[in-house]
Amino acid sequence: MCGIVGYIGNKNAQEIIIEGLRKLEYRGYDSAGLAVLTEQGLSLDKKQGRLANLEELLAAQPLKGHVGIGHTRWATHGRPSDLNAHPHTDAKRKFAVVHNGIIENFLSIKEELVQKGYTFVSETDTEVIAHLLDDLYDGDLVATVQKAVKRMRGAYALGIMSEHEPDKLIAVRLASPLIVGVGEGESFIGSDIPALLEHTRDVYILNEGEMAVLTRDGVELFDTETGQKLERDIFHVDWDLVQAEKGGFDSFMLKEIFEQPQAIRDTIGSRIDLDEKKVVLPELKMSDAQLASYDRIYIIACGTSMHAGLVGKDVIEKLTRIPVEVAVASEFRYRDPIYTDKTLMIVISQSGETADTLAALREAKKSGVTVMAITNVVGSSVAREADEVLFTWAGPEVAVASTKAYTSQVAALYMFALYLSQIKGTQSAEQIAEIVDHLLELPGQISQILADADHVRQYAERIKDVTSLFFIGRSLDYAVSLEGSLKLKEISYIHSEAYAAGELKHGTLALIEEDVPVIALATQPDIYEKMVSNIVEVKARGAHVLGFAFAGDNDLIKTVDQVVYVPKTLPLLAPILTVIPLQLLAYYTSAARGLDVDKPRNLAKSVTVE
Ligand code: F6R
Repeated sequence: MCGIVGYIGNKNAQEIIIEGLRKLEYRGYDSAGLAVLTEQGLSLDKKQGRLANLEELLAAQPLKGHVGIGHTRWATHGRPSDLNAHPHTDAKRKFAVVHNGIIENFLSIKEELVQKGYTFVSETDTEVIAHLLDDLYDGDLVATVQKAVKRMRGAYALGIMSEHEPDKLIAVRLASPLIVGVGEGESFIGSDIPALLEHTRDVYILNEGEMAVLTRDGVELFDTETGQKLERDIFHVDWDLVQAEKGGFDSFMLKEIFEQPQAIRDTIGSRIDLDEKKVVLPELKMSDAQLASYDRIYIIACGTSMHAGLVGKDVIEKLTRIPVEVAVASEFRYRDPIYTDKTLMIVISQSGETADTLAALREAKKSGVTVMAITNVVGSSVAREADEVLFTWAGPEVAVASTKAYTSQVAALYMFALYLSQIKGTQSAEQIAEIVDHLLELPGQISQILADADHVRQYAERIKDVTSLFFIGRSLDYAVSLEGSLKLKEISYIHSEAYAAGELKHGTLALIEEDVPVIALATQPDIYEKMVSNIVEVKARGAHVLGFAFAGDNDLIKTVDQVVYVPKTLPLLAPILTVIPLQLLAYYTSAARGLDVDKPRNLAKSVTVE
């Protein structure tokens, strides 16, 4: 998730773009760059690190011109470096491109261009676009961009300019967000509204598959596929800047909850072979034979990431029959674990900097164990030190309470488990294809749940003043209960406990009395009846029960007081859906109590101390 800003007008492009990038720095900050059409032609500067590093460079050698594009990067393909920073150009510097997202088929385009004699200087997928434009250019920039886009698969937003046609900027949107601003004698591109707000409040929010051609005189919108011109009313933004940085949401947490369809799409999209309906993990360096040789897996992480690991354990064991142990990193690092040469360790960390997780990783590596990381931050310590990395493409997570990182971690674990089962042959091609089909439906199903958020808000009003509540579930529902409970306590400060529902009667049931809220997840068919019996046990002691079930379950409501329904999927995939209302419940409860949702007391986003 990177930040894009573009400008065409009569003012100093550098100033406007840098100012805009500053407003987008929250989207990514491992490098920044700027390209401007100057009297000397297309000129650019880019620098690894924060935007301030680029500004320092520009202070010494400003880029003077009135047309330009800039970028703050959140690395995907290629580690953070000056060379991998955007904008990228072709060798003759006729085209400059900034990009947010992933070009899934960049390798095949790159191979083709290399055969034609193009040389590449970066490790990014973006650079292929600049060379491709040069290869296809026929005197018409708009038509050339259309042709290029037809060759590219993936989810992306692009800002493009060319020295051939200096009076135009082009913006293209496929899946990643992009806004175009209309001013007096000037036009703007931005990944997000805050980048433009100082200059204009009149914007077009590009829809998927649309492109915009910007000139000083205005903006024209086109369908990228057909080239057909589109008519659209301008959207007038009446948010203030703080609201705009949060995309119009009240908090980063709520924004990040709503970003989950995209985060899941990005995390699974490039790892699913749609024709063969199977999973591909091209990023793995180890051979399939090596991967298939492991007979024991440790998953090590903290907090929410550990909860994702608990879902991963069940899924990996179910699909591959390899035993998996999950442990919190702060405990595991001081244990004397039993390793063999067939042990694989998976560490999960959103930030990639959590001290305990990093220490466990280092201990394991010292013992010669292969470590695979699942992390959200390219260039983080965990990503650099692990032998193998599966990135979650959730984009920067700002709110302390993790939401989109959790569901993306779970999605990455599904990818891993499916891949392992493919190479071990523990699931048939048909079984894999069925799971893949359902995985592809998840982003849309999450959107459906989010559209019904009000339901959860009402329940939050009911529980906002209670002093204690319980989450119960069995098997995968129990793993999700733990996450629901953590989310609620960390931002609402209400005491809550998650229990394996069958374990209640061994002690905790004593705490259930009249009107105590119990949230009971019941999505797992093989244990459904037992779960209902556990619900009856708490109901009999006076609990008020909110049940969670798949749409179409008409039975649960007969036992509980209220039900939250999530769209039907395979029971194995339920965690990604049931956690969404639980995140919303934590959010709305915290908000109803008037608390700072994004920055809960005593907690930090990245815990780099023991
Ligand atoms: C809770 C939360 C924490 C983190 C934990 C590990 O919402 O975010 O429990 O999951 O501190 O952090 P990472 O994943 O960065 O290692």
